[in-house]
Amino acid sequence: MTAQSSRAANDLSAPNDLEAWWLPFTANRSFKSRPRMIARAKDMHYYTPEGRAVIDGAAGLWCCNAGHNRDEITAAIQKQAAELDYSPAFQFGHAAGFATAARIAQLAPGDLDHVFFCNSGSEAVDTALKIALAYWNVQGQGGRTRLIGRERGYHGVGFGGISVGGIVKNRQFFGSLLAGVDHLPHTYNRAEQAFSRGEPEWGAHLADDLERIVALHDASTIAAVIVEPMAGSTGVLPPPKGYLQRLRQICDKYGILLIFDEVISGFGRLGTAFAAERYGVIPDMITFAKGVNSGTVPMGGVIVRKGIHDAFMKGPENAIELFHGYTYSGHPLACAAALATQDIYRDEKLFERAKELEPVWADAVHSLKGLPNVLDIRSIGLVGAIDLASRPDAVGARAFEAMDRGFHDHDVMMRITGDTIALSPPLIVSEDQIGEIVDKVGKVIRAVA
Ligand SMILES: Cc1ncc(COP(=O)(O)O)c(C=O)c1O
Repeated sequence: MTAQSSRAANDLSAPNDLEAWWLPFTANRSFKSRPRMIARAKDMHYYTPEGRAVIDGAAGLWCCNAGHNRDEITAAIQKQAAELDYSPAFQFGHAAGFATAARIAQLAPGDLDHVFFCNSGSEAVDTALKIALAYWNVQGQGGRTRLIGRERGYHGVGFGGISVGGIVKNRQFFGSLLAGVDHLPHTYNRAEQAFSRGEPEWGAHLADDLERIVALHDASTIAAVIVEPMAGSTGVLPPPKGYLQRLRQICDKYGILLIFDEVISGFGRLGTAFAAERYGVIPDMITFAKGVNSGTVPMGGVIVRKGIHDAFMKGPENAIELFHGYTYSGHPLACAAALATQDIYRDEKLFERAKELEPVWADAVHSLKGLPNVLDIRSIGLVGAIDLASRPDAVGARAFEAMDRGFHDHDVMMRITGDTIALSPPLIVSEDQIGEIVDKVGKVIRAVA
């Protein structure tokens, strides 16, 4: 690229050449023929380059829980960038990193009191799985290597995450994945659960499948079970009443570690800091990302119980205890953004707000029942999902059109997976805006009938 053409490419006021960027999890050719471009954002809205406001029904990608471009977060990032742009976390530390870890540990239930930082949900999951394996090694039970995930689970896109995950398309193209992984059954059954609000009554017994897996492999070979308390990316599957408690009991019975992947459910999405609190179930590790700093700077992490952390703190004091980490673990900008975000969550009581709004949200989302092609609606916390009937021989086409028309014609951003529309607005959403989002989604559903 010549100096002149690179200057032209940096000029964002001119129409972009869309060729070079290969977009993730995107129908690239379709996007490039009819782009959905976003130029800026504020509070509950995105704005297109032409200045059209699009209400955010998805908190970006389940992450902007405090709303967009909050002045306090912007200021904190700017200040940090001017003060300490980068600091290595291998053998060095900085104040914002320690303050952020302490702040997150305070929010976590029970004795989950140490935080390992990384930069995304995928890295958080792979980190948690590695800590589980290494933990059993340092405990002298290195035979515990098997990892148990769940069908329809989404744990990001690292090899660990897709191995324990259960979304077929995310696995089928990528070879043999990790060995020694097994899966629990997913918890969705439309015949038993359709149009449930919150946790469905039916399905706690599905946790008992862990007994079958233990009987098959023997507990002495199993390191950990990982589940999302609420499966998000597969289309919003709230846990059946009693299911997570049962999973905890069975893990305790066999000494198996339980990991909650709270990359979506963390930071208020279900009306509590973590879903673990909502369900009164204390896992051994919690993975987080997204909402930790409202999606502003890439950040993820794993919160671990004291006993797990302490098991590593043996041997010579100058020896590395865990051979794992990332160049950007605890990046100063991500930490500054996280601290400012956590202040907003606390000062504006956004987790409590999500809890208070849950019934209003549920009423609104469930009002879409009866619209054409609506097969099921689920709601929990400030999350909702609408399953649409697939078009013949074109699974996903109806929801794709809904997402596209929602953005272009009805000024609403939504998330889709298969033929499911998923909604998860920023936690600052007002009751009027809930009405507006659902009204727009209703219009879109009619438009794609
Ligand atoms: C439960 C869960 N785990 C992991 C991830 C992966 O996060 P990331 O895209 O930041 O790698 C996601 C993303 O949606 C998620 O929902």
